[in-house]
Amino acid sequence: MLNHKYAVSPADGPVVVTGASGYIGAWIVRDCVEQGYAVRACVRDASNPAKIDHLLKLNSAGLRGSVVLHEADLFRPGSYDEAFAGAAAVIHSGATVGFNRETPQEVYDGCFKENAHVIESVRRSGSVKRFVFTSSFAAVGHPRDPGYVFTEKDWCGDNVEAYKGRWSEEQIPLDRDIAYAMAKANTEKLVYAEAEADGGFEALAILPLHVIGPLMSSNHDQSWSWQNHIKRMMQGKPYKGGRDGRMLWNCVDVRDVARAHRLCIETTVGSNGSRYILAASDRNGELFTWQLQALLSSIFPFVSQVGGEEMHNEKPVKATYDAPRAYCLLARQELGIETADIETTVRDMVDSYYQLGLIDPQDAG
Ligand SMILES: NC(=O)c1ccc[n+]([C@@H]2O[C@H](COP(=O)([O-])OP(=O)(O)OC[C@H]3O[C@@H](n4cnc5c(N)ncnc54)[C@H](OP(=O)(O)O)[C@@H]3O)[C@@H](O)[C@H]2O)c1
Repeated sequence: MLNHKYAVSPADGPVVVTGASGYIGAWIVRDCVEQGYAVRACVRDASNPAKIDHLLKLNSAGLRGSVVLHEADLFRPGSYDEAFAGAAAVIHSGATVGFNRETPQEVYDGCFKENAHVIESVRRSGSVKRFVFTSSFAAVGHPRDPGYVFTEKDWCGDNVEAYKGRWSEEQIPLDRDIAYAMAKANTEKLVYAEAEADGGFEALAILPLHVIGPLMSSNHDQSWSWQNHIKRMMQGKPYKGGRDGRMLWNCVDVRDVARAHRLCIETTVGSNGSRYILAASDRNGELFTWQLQALLSSIFPFVSQVGGEEMHNEKPVKATYDAPRAYCLLARQELGIETADIETTVRDMVDSYYQLGLIDPQDAG
């Protein structure tokens, strides 16, 4: 049966995006404005041009909708009240991601504990029909044999014995990965339960894997981000993540991630508790680092040396652990999303680096 009661359209009123200045948040704002929504974009500091100029520019881009800024902070309970009042939907993408100065405990608090008052603000709005939470594949992934294909039925914390004692609340202050995964999973469970109890709104979640694609602002080139790692590879530098640079990149386009969020407020198929993995659409989007290097070299043949993992005679020195495998299937089936091919995503991302002047063409060597 179709679920029309909670489905939102631009005629229902404004849509709020938290974390609006960020890499994913800014693309969510853009997608909603393209579709004719009046967007209330929540940022922590509305006077910082690096965080807002790319959002305000959308108002003069000839798009159907509009953007206004609201200041709010996850660590200030009640600060979302004004933005949420009278809104039809909230897309909650803001989070203390934790790669800068935050401790694992602060990551946990900013990604979980502080969400309780965000839900309070949703309730107080009296108008919000859909709440979409940007969770993460971290809320799904857990130790499994190589090649295991994760789906939305999986939760981090499953197969707990394989964590070898690392999966416990005591680990939160000690381990950023555990803090982040637990926070995302606990928030999902919280928001589904709160929505169920309230009855006035539904909560759905998007669970992205390695998000890449074009940057809307120089500020999206954060040193810990996947996009920044690929920039460094384009500059001939080794990839510092994974195991000595060896990793399975399970890539999804930031524009598809954004569109999926908007489709969650509009869906008549998904309902409270629906969660969607946004990962590669098929095997083409799953690349070991050496395969990503080869793809970058083929798209940008003028770059003499693309970095990545250690190679010998054009072959990787060591094999990569084959995980995480997961596909963007349910989102395609239920939300009807069409996804970009990996070549387009990678090309557009690197082109945006050139356009923003963040990669010097001289780096091509
Ligand atoms: N990028 C990925 O590959 C990936 C994968 C899975 C899940 N995610 C999730 O996607 C969401 C967005 O991540 P992103 O990659 O776009 O990161 P990002 O560019 O760093 O964006 C994070 C946003 O969160 C906001 N924020 C940080 N602390 C805040 C606080 N105390 N109160 C309110 N807002 C706060 C920031 O707002 P200000 O700029 O206003 O300070 C920023 O706009 C996060 O929930 C993240 O966990 C990302």
